[in-house]
Amino acid sequence: MLSGPLMPGIFFILGALIDHVSSAVLPPSPLCRPVVFSVHAAAQNGVFLYPPNPNSAQDIVDFIHGAYTNTTGPLMNGTVTVEGDFTVNGIYCRPTKPRLNQTTLQILVHGASYDKSMWSGYGFGDDYNWQAKATARGYHTLAIDRLAHGDDKQYLDPFKVVQGTLDLEILHQVINILRADNHHQNPLPQRFQRIIYVGHSYGTIVGVGLANKYPADLDAMVATGFTVFLNSTAIINYLQITSAALSSPRFAQLPYGYVTSLSEASRELSFYSGAYDPRIPRADYARRDTLTAGEAGYTGFATPAFGFAKPVLLTSGEQDKITCNSPVLRCADMLATTGAVLFPDAGVREVYAPPNTGHDLTLHYSAPETMRVVHDFLDRNFA
Ligand SMILES: *[C@@H]1O[C@H](CO)[C@@H](O)[C@H](O)[C@H]1NC(C)=O
Ligand SMILES: *[C@@H]1O[C@H](CO)[C@@H](O)[C@H](O)[C@H]1NC(C)=O
Ligand SMILES: *[C@@H]1O[C@H](CO)[C@@H](O)[C@H](O)[C@H]1NC(C)=O
Ligand SMILES: *[C@@H]1O[C@H](CO)[C@@H](O)[C@H](O)[C@H]1NC(C)=O
Repeated sequence: MLSGPLMPGIFFILGALIDHVSSAVLPPSPLCRPVVFSVHAAAQNGVFLYPPNPNSAQDIVDFIHGAYTNTTGPLMNGTVTVEGDFTVNGIYCRPTKPRLNQTTLQILVHGASYDKSMWSGYGFGDDYNWQAKATARGYHTLAIDRLAHGDDKQYLDPFKVVQGTLDLEILHQVINILRADNHHQNPLPQRFQRIIYVGHSYGTIVGVGLANKYPADLDAMVATGFTVFLNSTAIINYLQITSAALSSPRFAQLPYGYVTSLSEASRELSFYSGAYDPRIPRADYARRDTLTAGEAGYTGFATPAFGFAKPVLLTSGEQDKITCNSPVLRCADMLATTGAVLFPDAGVREVYAPPNTGHDLTLHYSAPETMRVVHDFLDRNFA
């Protein structure tokens, strides 16, 4: 099914994941350290006309499944301004190899039910560690926790507040700080003149919204784990969402509107296919994070990035059941269509569909090759 960029309900997902013990998953590199940003942000969040009963876990699951199934998403009653002060937790890594131009940073944005630790590969070695690969190629990296995920323990309203709309406004503020001269709020040791957005799954959707609204924020887009051909049947059948509070004691304080994958088996089915180390989905499930009904239900902000003229690389696993699953289309063709729809004005557009690879493409055996392809692309555009 072709779910267009204007099909908000389905537009969501998938991501890459969580954790509440970030220090344990820091890349084994002395060149990385945790950083915290403080920002003020305001967004026009969507208002659900018929939100689910917040005290009924079943109602919430039905609402999210309905949002994915209905190509236009749930019924909305306009938007409302949501505004506040937010802290953003990140892990900053500096290059291990000098580059000609030292002012290029990759900002790494995780997917749904994941957090910033997904980029370090859960301790399974540098083959799965984006930060290790990127810094070895001379790039700075900043992996951030999206609002209400990872180390963020504000327990914000999962319907009205935690939506991708607000995520993109917060990212815009973080990028302003990263680009500004001598900004006292910048916890990084320097300013950056070029920002490369690397999104996974829902993180890519947020990136589309950012590139649409603030095209000058970004100098390149690496869109992983997302196409406009999202398969809602696969999402619903494999992910098997359940309220996180019912899933693990570590989520006990979360309202029911925060959901996650039901079991280790459901997580593996959703995010893994082809060739991978079977220990990784187990570690992934143990570290799982959440997604909110607000993130899943309202993606109206992710409209095509008209006017975004920078280089764009799209990559999804050839066996990604969620974004590249079709009996009739090749994954590379789905990625090309997605690029043409979402980034019609991109200066350069390339696609890569690693074989034997599922949704979490940095956690499969093909990960080193995928990361090589991405960095070759970036080097060609940022010599
Ligand atoms: C799907 O959403 C549209 C518009 O939001 C609405 O009119 C329609 O009733 C919904 N369909 C179902 C089956 O919920
Ligand atoms: C939609 O929102 C408006 C403004 O907040 C409110 O007055 C109205 O009652 C809402 N409509 C429904 C059907 O809930
Ligand atoms: C690095 O790249 C930026 C953006 O293209 C450019 O403005 C700046 O002059 C470059 N710096 C050096 C030292 O080449
Ligand atoms: C969606 O996924 C389901 C389950 O994997 C599969 O049976 C179906 O063929 C897929 N639908 C499309 C249109 O690709």
